[in-house]
Amino acid sequence: MKNKLIDSILKQLTLEEKINMIHGTGLFHNGGVERLNIPPLKMTDGSRGVRAEIHDDNWNPIGLSDDYVTYLPSGSALASTWNKKLAYSYGKVLGAETRGRGKDVILGPSINIIRSPLCGRNFEYLSEDPTLTSNMALPIVKGIQHFDVASCLKHYAVNNQETERLSVNVKVDLKTLHNIYLKAFKNSVQKGKVLSLMGAYNKVNGRHASQDPYLLNKVLRDQWKFNNMVISDWSAVNNTLEAANSGIDIEMSVTNNFDQYFMALPLLEKIKAGEISESLIDQKVSNILTVMNKIHLIGDTDKRKRGYYNTKKHQKITYDVAKEAIVLLKNENNILPLSKNIKRILVIGDNAERLHAKGGGSAEIKSLYEISPLLALKSKYGSFIQIDFKRGYEATPLTPLDGNWQEASLETKEELRTTLSEETKKRQKALRKEALEHARNYDHILFFGGLNHDYDVEGQDRPNLDLPYEQDILIQELLNINPNTIIHITSASAFTMTSWISKCRALLWSGFNGMEGGNALIDVIFGDVNPSGKLTQTFAYSLTDYSSHSIGEFGHPKEVWYKEGEDVGYRHFMKHQIRPVFPFGFGCSYTSFEILPVNYEKIDNKHYFHISIKNTGILDGQEVIQLYAYQSLDSFKVPILKTFDKIMVKKGEVKKVSLVLSNDDFLTYDEALEKDVIAHGIYTIGVGNDIQNLIYPWEISI
Ligand code: BGC
Repeated sequence: MKNKLIDSILKQLTLEEKINMIHGTGLFHNGGVERLNIPPLKMTDGSRGVRAEIHDDNWNPIGLSDDYVTYLPSGSALASTWNKKLAYSYGKVLGAETRGRGKDVILGPSINIIRSPLCGRNFEYLSEDPTLTSNMALPIVKGIQHFDVASCLKHYAVNNQETERLSVNVKVDLKTLHNIYLKAFKNSVQKGKVLSLMGAYNKVNGRHASQDPYLLNKVLRDQWKFNNMVISDWSAVNNTLEAANSGIDIEMSVTNNFDQYFMALPLLEKIKAGEISESLIDQKVSNILTVMNKIHLIGDTDKRKRGYYNTKKHQKITYDVAKEAIVLLKNENNILPLSKNIKRILVIGDNAERLHAKGGGSAEIKSLYEISPLLALKSKYGSFIQIDFKRGYEATPLTPLDGNWQEASLETKEELRTTLSEETKKRQKALRKEALEHARNYDHILFFGGLNHDYDVEGQDRPNLDLPYEQDILIQELLNINPNTIIHITSASAFTMTSWISKCRALLWSGFNGMEGGNALIDVIFGDVNPSGKLTQTFAYSLTDYSSHSIGEFGHPKEVWYKEGEDVGYRHFMKHQIRPVFPFGFGCSYTSFEILPVNYEKIDNKHYFHISIKNTGILDGQEVIQLYAYQSLDSFKVPILKTFDKIMVKKGEVKKVSLVLSNDDFLTYDEALEKDVIAHGIYTIGVGNDIQNLIYPWEISI
């Protein structure tokens, strides 16, 4: 794109100044050009808040008190709200706080597809489904960019495992690549005008994503017409020539030998030697300046919007997201909500009082505060309910990662999780015994367990689906003593519950739910909030129920072959009729709804599905209406999510909802034509409130 300002700057820049702009000259910024009033671009993690300040040349925190921020629910929690308006507000908090902290680019949202429940970074990701991911990512990007900061979508692309993430090669056919793994990126590029993308570490079909001409030049620039900026993941570039020739604009890394980066002196030398054309560098600089101009960092700088951090409004949005992110999975005999008139309650489980903000890797947050469930419970009810706490199991003590873990992550493959020693196991047993003995004397027990950021963490995958620290045994025994025990599990993804799920009557789940997570959870438990979260991932009985594991293609260090093709997540379960514990889209409420099709009409090539929803229960509540479609002639009739809406319906009320599809919702990648084409055909439309609870009222022609 031609722009007078950018052209004139480009003409004035020396080669050395240009080179300085296209690589990190500090751990979170590139080089600026003072004499031309071009500031460095200041970047910050991450996906659920603005990361704390570290030194320019090492990863240790600066340690002042001015970088505490709002800690938002992480990606898999946010997505469980299925609320696009909330996703926009969430993006606005991220944008305002990024700007407030004086940064220009926020490295998020993270939108890789959840291909396996074991991926260590699933807590940052949104869903196993590309349509849901696209629909939730787009408003986040728009919200962020509203504040004149660039959102950097990551990790482009197919970064779906952490095992050997720097080098693993993903083999994936192009149709699957585009239809499943690239769809949300494309949507945010084209509809969200996202200003930057982060090239992933891993290889895709043999080439490092951060310097892959196919992903960066052909797909992103030529097919999608992206003309903004691509930043490498930190140390994802490893070849000067390939990086120069590919669509990467800024090389970032984890070490402080900035001049030695592949796109620094080694590149300068190659240009001087005539091996690389300077015009390639001009293009990169032009892309960077384009983004700087769009966020008013150069040009009309007076127009730049202001930002703020730690406002009450941000905390309120954090709470609003958290309360809708909680998914009620089981509630037999209406055990929940609990009465506020109970006399005493026993709380068990490490997650009752564990704080999660400081964990997870680059998504760690220096949170202004974080309300644990136990703190929320005591501060709301402590004066009139006797609240007792027994830990019940021992989790690894919370040791924040050493500031330098990120630099070290290039070499060390050391487990961050420590295995439980014999001595710890003994203590474990004693803690369990103590909790169970107490449990006999209480009518009301709350168990807060699940995972923590020793398991849901960047740089390594979970070893298996099991709940750690022998929680299974504890839960089973607790349910034997008191089948009305209310269980809440925190985790990014699915977990094994086979040994106790049939006995359990009240089960809640949420992802890492931000600084207001405890308040939101206690408000759901006592009925101040009617839960409305829905699963964005299938919760299966066993690991091999998931397609990637059924074919043994996950977690290999060298190469992973996505042989399952597009059968990711619920597509695989539906195709092979595998019964999950809880299906995609599922989540209960304290009230009940009746979803009825009203009529269908086609106007100007748009398809309108008019649906009525009745609240048949005794409480106001929100429901997510989900619309799926499959080709009527397909032998496997697998409904694919096409659109959805979340509606508030008062008790007794009937509301009309219209869901709209266009032909673009039926695009599929055509390898021969190298573009998305409409998959024409007759489609059966399913409507309901989870993938297994659909009615099929319509057949339409596309
Ligand atoms: C992560 C990125 C992160 C970057 C900077 C990398 O290790 O993969 O998601 O933005 O570090 O901290």
